Amino acid sequence: MKQLTIIKPDDWHLHLREGIILKNIIKFSSDLFCRAIIMPNTKIPITTIDQAILYRNSIYAALPKKAKFHPLMTIYLTDNISLNDLEKGYKNNIFFAAKLYPANTTTNSSYGVKNINNIYKVFELMEKIKMPLLIHGEVNDPNVDIFDREQVFIDKELSSIIKYFPKLKIVLEHITTSYAVDFVRENNIGATITPHHLHINRNAMFFEGLNSDFYCLPVAKRESNRVSLIKAATSGEECFFLGTDSAPHLRQWKAFCGCAGIFNAPVAISSYLKIFEEENALDKFEKFASLNGPKYHNIPPNNEKITFIYEPHTIKDFIEIKDNGKVQGKIKSFHSLETLNWKLKL
Ligand code: NCD
Ligand code: ZN
Repeated sequence: MKQLTIIKPDDWHLHLREGIILKNIIKFSSDLFCRAIIMPNTKIPITTIDQAILYRNSIYAALPKKAKFHPLMTIYLTDNISLNDLEKGYKNNIFFAAKLYPANTTTNSSYGVKNINNIYKVFELMEKIKMPLLIHGEVNDPNVDIFDREQVFIDKELSSIIKYFPKLKIVLEHITTSYAVDFVRENNIGATITPHHLHINRNAMFFEGLNSDFYCLPVAKRESNRVSLIKAATSGEECFFLGTDSAPHLRQWKAFCGCAGIFNAPVAISSYLKIFEEENALDKFEKFASLNGPKYHNIPPNNEKITFIYEPHTIKDFIEIKDNGKVQGKIKSFHSLETLNWKLKL
């Protein structure tokens, strides 16, 4: 039987939500990953040390008994974020990084930063204390075409941030364009790449009628961009690493309100491995999934190993969200009802 054993990966971009959703979905991530950067865009965003501690405790409490999984918490930047909380939280290992959402660019980003120039003092402090900045790289200008928002963000905002804070450690998250791939390479920053942006192009949202299952932000772009992302992820280059951006939304919201986000946690590694196998790059997967991220963040890779076996299997269409055994809703999984080849060895 074909097998693949690698150092256990980390997920450098994950939405775990709260309450019963958190309790029902966390096992998918703790099975596959040792550590994950937890996004702070909860209903009330995580902007203080106290909130982060409460949220982190609720994540530990929701974990399956034997799981060894460590949430790396982030602080949600606002125009008025407390420099004191940011610095104290980073120095005391409460926050691993800070997350910049330009206001109204994605799910639960309405409290985000309205004018990035207003938080240059925050970047100055972060550069000084070596705290990583994770960026949702899109402009919020409604006059900019949604397919151009990443590129315009790079030109209008990111280039200046890098110019003024050349030592600031930056991760451009869930990149979707060839333009971003080139920019990341040329500017010595890091980038995460999601499984869904490696599999779908923008046609997916319009195949056989409007389909919100494939709607996420930044939206998938043209096929040529997907091809660049595949080349980047499978190249082994140190600046590109795994970040699932698994973003669960209950079916009722996703189907009727079309909220942005794709839930890929149950299939995350199988999904990436399909691409790496098709590219004959399985030998590069450990770098992308388990080595490049820790290296970029100056932390050691995990000690644990994990094995995947080649066993074609069909992906369930929905994950049920239960409370005390009673089904409260369901969430559609990425690759629902498709066949994937690689499976976690239990
Ligand atoms: C994310 C979510 O649902 O929280 N949605 C998404 O489309 N990716 C937020 C984000 O990372 O943009
Ligand atoms: Zn996200």
